[in-house]
Amino acid sequence: MQKVNIILVGFGRVGRAFYELLKEKYDYCRERYGLFLELRGIIRKSGAVLLSGTRKMVSEAEAGKEKSELSGWVQTFSLVDLLEEFKSGVLVDCTPSDLNTGEPGFSLMKTALSSGWHVVTASKGALVVHPSELAAEARQHQVALKASGATAAALPTLDVGLHSLAGAEILAIEGILNGTTNYILTRMSEGLSFSRALMEASEKGIAEPNPVQDIEGWDTAAKMIIIANRVLGTEIKLSEARVNGINGLTEEIMAKAARLGKTIKLIGRCSRETPEAPWKVEVGLALLNPDHPLAAVDGSNKGIIFYTDCMGYIVLAGGKSDPRGAAAALIKDIISIYWRDF
Ligand SMILES: NC(=O)c1ccc[n+]([C@@H]2O[C@H](COP(=O)([O-])OP(=O)(O)OC[C@H]3O[C@@H](n4cnc5c(N)ncnc54)[C@H](OP(=O)(O)O)[C@@H]3O)[C@@H](O)[C@H]2O)c1
Repeated sequence: MQKVNIILVGFGRVGRAFYELLKEKYDYCRERYGLFLELRGIIRKSGAVLLSGTRKMVSEAEAGKEKSELSGWVQTFSLVDLLEEFKSGVLVDCTPSDLNTGEPGFSLMKTALSSGWHVVTASKGALVVHPSELAAEARQHQVALKASGATAAALPTLDVGLHSLAGAEILAIEGILNGTTNYILTRMSEGLSFSRALMEASEKGIAEPNPVQDIEGWDTAAKMIIIANRVLGTEIKLSEARVNGINGLTEEIMAKAARLGKTIKLIGRCSRETPEAPWKVEVGLALLNPDHPLAAVDGSNKGIIFYTDCMGYIVLAGGKSDPRGAAAALIKDIISIYWRDF
């Protein structure tokens, strides 16, 4: 049995979903993995709270008298205070993804890693802008830096590329990595206009309040770059990727694709022309034949294909595109840091 201290940064849609799922999974993680996942504090832009641990929160919720520790947001303690108070554990980063600066995630993650804390993140910015600095910091302090929540969340991507395919040479990676755009394309193929489909995605909570990065393809590019840099050991920058989104797509183009018996998908791809050539990341609309493994990935589902030299091609599809799915990916990463199944 092991006690794991957790500090959560960011208490928006994903942070709240993580908080709720952690309470829901507390007993299961204790019984199945021998881990007491104890939430010690939450930090957001507008303040922070110190908590008495998930176990206490679960017991109070079960007794119908959930203590409102969450009402006591104060500005008086910082991340450094919490890291020092609890000595070791995991920082869970659910702050916004700024693909230009990598902040606030970069500073938060660097502080935690350099204090000997593991980091599990849902935000992409820091991993796209400063991947090598963060990896070096984690290596130096012998702690984990895990990013399932930032790389298609509930759809396993990094775990498969890094561990399940170990020993195989990956020749190319291709994926539908953004649930919002895949939902819009699916609804457009059923006859909706772009604006109606986007409105529906927002109403269902699939699209973020500002979905520009999704629509323009930058979210897909960021995820593919994080996956490629981790799995293939590349150092691709976002500015080097060729990125086109789904903006400009009309009902007429969708209808034409349907008449040809094809499906239109937003595909992110990392490939190289020869084994000596540099790896390239591209994002754009693709006309897929019905037998393409990603053609049937519909709605807010996502999918990824790893093409390998000795394991054939591996296809994964599904994975909930919502804050709860992202929260589940964060918990999975925490478990995989501490649980050894030998
Ligand atoms: N939404 C999804 O389904 C999904 C799925 C996978 C990954 N992600 C990623 O997960 C991250 C969080 O997404 P979200 O939808 O939860 O965002 P959100 O609702 O906008 O919440 C962001 C949170 O971060 C806090 N924050 C902002 N700047 C901060 C700082 N400097 N220090 C500490 N806290 C700060 C905010 O504080 P206040 O509350 O005080 O404003 C807020 O609580 C993003 O990077 C997103 O790309 C989202």
